[in-house]
Amino acid sequence: MSLGSSQSGGDAIEVLLSEQRTFPPPKEFAARANISDPDIYEKAASDAERFWAQQADRLSWFKKWDRVLEWDPPFAKWFLGGKLNVSYNCIDRHLPAKAAKIAFFWEGEPGEKRVVTYGELMVQVAKCANALRSLGVRRGDRVAIYMGMVPELAIAMLACTRIGAVHSVVFGGFSSEALADRVNDAQAKVLITQDAGWRRGNVVPLKANADKALESTPSVEKVLVFKRMDSYEISMKDGRDFFWHEVVEAQSEKCDPEAMDAEDMLYILYTSGTTAKPKGIVHSTGGYLTQVSFTHWAVFDIKEDDIYWCAADIGWVTGHSYIVYGPLSNGVTGILYEGTPDFPEKDRWWRIVEEYKATILYTAPTAIRTFMRWGPQYPGKHDLSSLRLLGSVGEPINPEAWMWYHSIIGGERCPIVDTWWQTETGSILISPLPGLTTTKPGSATRPLPGIKANVYDDDGNPVDPGHGGYLVIEEPWPSMLRTIYGDPERYRNTYWSRFDGVYFTGDGCRLDEDRYFWLMGRVDDVMNVAGHRISTAEVESALVAHPAVAEAAVVGRSDPDSGQAIAAFVTLAGGSYDGDEEALISELREWVAEKIGKIARPKSIVITDDLPKTRSGKIMRRLLRDISEQRQLGDVTTLANADVVEEIRRLAEARRSEED
Ligand code: WT7
Repeated sequence: MSLGSSQSGGDAIEVLLSEQRTFPPPKEFAARANISDPDIYEKAASDAERFWAQQADRLSWFKKWDRVLEWDPPFAKWFLGGKLNVSYNCIDRHLPAKAAKIAFFWEGEPGEKRVVTYGELMVQVAKCANALRSLGVRRGDRVAIYMGMVPELAIAMLACTRIGAVHSVVFGGFSSEALADRVNDAQAKVLITQDAGWRRGNVVPLKANADKALESTPSVEKVLVFKRMDSYEISMKDGRDFFWHEVVEAQSEKCDPEAMDAEDMLYILYTSGTTAKPKGIVHSTGGYLTQVSFTHWAVFDIKEDDIYWCAADIGWVTGHSYIVYGPLSNGVTGILYEGTPDFPEKDRWWRIVEEYKATILYTAPTAIRTFMRWGPQYPGKHDLSSLRLLGSVGEPINPEAWMWYHSIIGGERCPIVDTWWQTETGSILISPLPGLTTTKPGSATRPLPGIKANVYDDDGNPVDPGHGGYLVIEEPWPSMLRTIYGDPERYRNTYWSRFDGVYFTGDGCRLDEDRYFWLMGRVDDVMNVAGHRISTAEVESALVAHPAVAEAAVVGRSDPDSGQAIAAFVTLAGGSYDGDEEALISELREWVAEKIGKIARPKSIVITDDLPKTRSGKIMRRLLRDISEQRQLGDVTTLANADVVEEIRRLAEARRSEED
């Protein structure tokens, strides 16, 4: 097996597996659960198309589909001939009944509060849609969105869907260069941004970053700028830049929703792959909304009076599917918080849960481990008894963190849904159903109804229970990616060539004797840092772009907080550096943060004379990972330069003792 190393908590998983410690759904929860009939799995398996058609029926269609699925591997079309509009499903159809119901409670990091009702959302989305039209946006055009966590981000996305424009949201933590790359790949016509936002007490200069990107994005004709700050200087370019409060506010409150084809492109969202160039993941309209809406309702057991908080950023797929489209299509009340969990104090999240009486919390293991490290006194100061369900996403949750979440946050009464999915899958594929599934800490349990997931060995044979291999999805699903934007060949090669006609997830997975799925981390050169995917190649290419660097190798090493941390090894141009090496290392770390974004800043950089290479010149990242994680080194005899390994190990160790 060539599976990547398991993430933190691997040993504890073994212990729990051997102890068979399990958590059945609490009785009172199960009694009122949205899904309580275990036959749903069998029914969905026996006729998946019928099952997905039933879920599509939860939405409002302008015209019903003629055919559920056309599967011409690896290209799927769902609900062919069907016509619908996403913003209509997220807003109009809830009106007038829910005009006064709150769609979002919003809190800015400094403490400002706003509420946006479904009625207000309707007005704002219609106006924003009209404003986009006035800026020249037409059906099918791409609109890039580079904002922080403000309601206007969701409004902008919905406005795009209303007029059939394709949004491409770029996470507000990305750098100007990362933004420019994504804008250019999608050939976006309009960019929507904001003056600035708040993060851990600091100003994030979004417009200034955007201005830098706009120097090299010729496709962008107009820029719409939302003013979030009270007074903050930005520069506005005449004829190109327009203020939201001027252009949007002046528009009519009426904007008829475009009837979109079920297969029309809804959005593009970029994610890291094994090469330096991010992939533009393409999602569809009908299939995506069908499955996102259904899974949100089923997995989070959504009730009319829930106060639902997905604490992710809308800039990632979790936010697209489970802050915006899932919750709004189900007409629920959500919480949006702009900033970090430690501002002004480490109890900010728990203050929010208490104040809004949040009933559902969805977050990532990296956050849970951080809270664990801060200590139980912070949640302990607040009344968290409103919570009834907890969710986890982004990386394997180690059993210790699971237990802490269960007892300290959930008061031992809330089921935990550990939800496995990817940007590419669009929605959750493997997760407990909270009213039905007995959970095991550390396992995402089993595929949801309608999903055929399996674990294969190297030769593409399904493994027996008790064994590990590669996680694959054997049948198409409605919210699957349709292609990689502009690159159908890369789509085919990345996902459908490892095993013919079967979707390759890139994740390692173990099946236990009950056929529960235990996710083991990536098996490719993709790191998972704090629940976010970053490719080793992306960071390497940023490093070698620095004039002092000749070669770079980057690996993810286990980290107690972020799951994985980025460890870089570089050789220098000219073989040496006459300046201060420490200063160069800090400069390189900042350089990467500038090029990609702070999430990609390497935690450690080792400067070495050479990198371990095979005789064919391939860098042996596996050895560097072993060094980074202080493991016994495997076979080095295939190396062209075996002696360098000892040297790197010595350097890495010296660096580590300095850090301690
Ligand atoms: C990768 C996808 C899906 C939203 C967040 C990340 C890892 C995700 C889990 C989980 C174990 C998980 C996988 C996957 N992952 N959820 N519950 N258990 N691993 O989206 O950036 O597309 O990353 O995150 O490795 O392939 P993404």
